[in-house]
Amino acid sequence: MSRELSVVVLAAGMGTRMKSAMPKVMHKVAGKPMVNHVIDTAAHLNASKTMVVVGPDMPDLIKSVSPHPTFEQTDRLGTAHAVLAARDGLVGLTGEVLVLYADSPLFTADTLARLVAARQSGDHAVAVLGFRPDDPAGYGRLVTDANTGELTAIVEDKECDDAQRQINFCNSGVMCFRAEDMIANLEAIDNSNAKGEYYLTDAVEVARKNGQSCSAIEVDEAETLGVNSRTQLAVAEAIIQERLRSHAMIEGATLIDPASVFFSADTKLGRDVIVEPNVVFGPGVTVGDNTVIKAFSHLESCNVGAGADIGPYARLRPGAEIGAGAKVGNFVEIKKAVVEDGAKVNHLSYIGDARVGAKANIGAGTITCNYDGFRKQHTDIGAGAFIGSNSALVAPVEIGDGAIVGAGSTITGKVDADALVLTRAERVEKKGWAATFRDKMRALTGKK
Ligand code: UD1
Ligand code: MG
Repeated sequence: MSRELSVVVLAAGMGTRMKSAMPKVMHKVAGKPMVNHVIDTAAHLNASKTMVVVGPDMPDLIKSVSPHPTFEQTDRLGTAHAVLAARDGLVGLTGEVLVLYADSPLFTADTLARLVAARQSGDHAVAVLGFRPDDPAGYGRLVTDANTGELTAIVEDKECDDAQRQINFCNSGVMCFRAEDMIANLEAIDNSNAKGEYYLTDAVEVARKNGQSCSAIEVDEAETLGVNSRTQLAVAEAIIQERLRSHAMIEGATLIDPASVFFSADTKLGRDVIVEPNVVFGPGVTVGDNTVIKAFSHLESCNVGAGADIGPYARLRPGAEIGAGAKVGNFVEIKKAVVEDGAKVNHLSYIGDARVGAKANIGAGTITCNYDGFRKQHTDIGAGAFIGSNSALVAPVEIGDGAIVGAGSTITGKVDADALVLTRAERVEKKGWAATFRDKMRALTGKK
């Protein structure tokens, strides 16, 4: 039974408890804004339309969710009012409408699919994702019929009588609606309650009055975490990191000390990758098969080819493209540079805005001087070239294939293929000078 699925993501709140200049849902978990986690999870369900309800003056949020349409909720008059802010996008929809909170990034696609299936199977007007917290205070309580198990009402905490307050089956906030009667049901909701808000949860009572049925299914509390503070942001981060670590291992990577490896939501590791302790993957990293990422390396927006050997203490910055079997060793920083297959940059180097040709060898302490204070310039190092230690390559500069640069050189311009180039100052050696100097100084100062 395949019906169209649309998603409304509520993201209008500023989240004052975050004490932040940016909207709460723009705060990142695993390198990705919370709102984008929610959108990407919905995308796994093949949602045909995802709409985001934003608050006033949230241009970065609108950009971050683009190309999905956004609807502004100018006054925050409650969750039903928030969903109806997207009214223009809801008109004429058929199938399912899933309502998600952008500050709740932990729901899995499997759970959401289960809720959609539950709504469909009984053709309910509303299906709600419930959970059983140790402490239900603050949550809407799910009231079910003792005989049929059907959901008869959701009672907000502030509206509960003593008996209802004892119920520990609670609303996680995720609700799935039958699109065809959703707008009519939401428009029938009023705000005569303790908070003077239009409660989305009242859709259940409205539907029941209209002779429609509702149901609730249960999800583990761990998925329901809503982020209201930086402390909860850290809790969400820890849970997502755990998931990413086990995903990486399930897909065939070895993490020697999983708890010390930090991933981004989009990190892609190949098979038989070994990740040593204390490695950080920023956004946009792809690592090929049979690669070793040694301890204390930091990678972001870069690609690492199969069989490469990275670290320890390597820093791969945006635009680093490391070829198959290449080596990037300790205290090496690579930025916007291609290190071709089999090339080696083993120690203490900065390679930026450059190409290092296949099998070239970059000696310890080599620096590409790519910036003159105004412009970034390119360094091109040919295949099989050998750059002696402690060399400065002043861009724009081109080292031909197979050329050798003598240690300690400062190179500008173009070096021919297979040439030797060096810029050392001429050597001066004075036999016995040091011993004579010391004798003289001892006599002068009286020191031994
Ligand atoms: C809501 C539910 C409650 C549930 C709880 C789960 C309602 C009436 N209550 O309560 O049953 O147990 O979530 O966490 O729905 N929002 C807007 N515009 C508004 C109001 C809210 O965009 O006008 C957004 C908020 O930013 C937030 C979400 O909707 O992301 C929920 O709003 P919140 O005020 O936190 O609702 P709760 O009182 O926690
Ligand atoms: Mg809340």
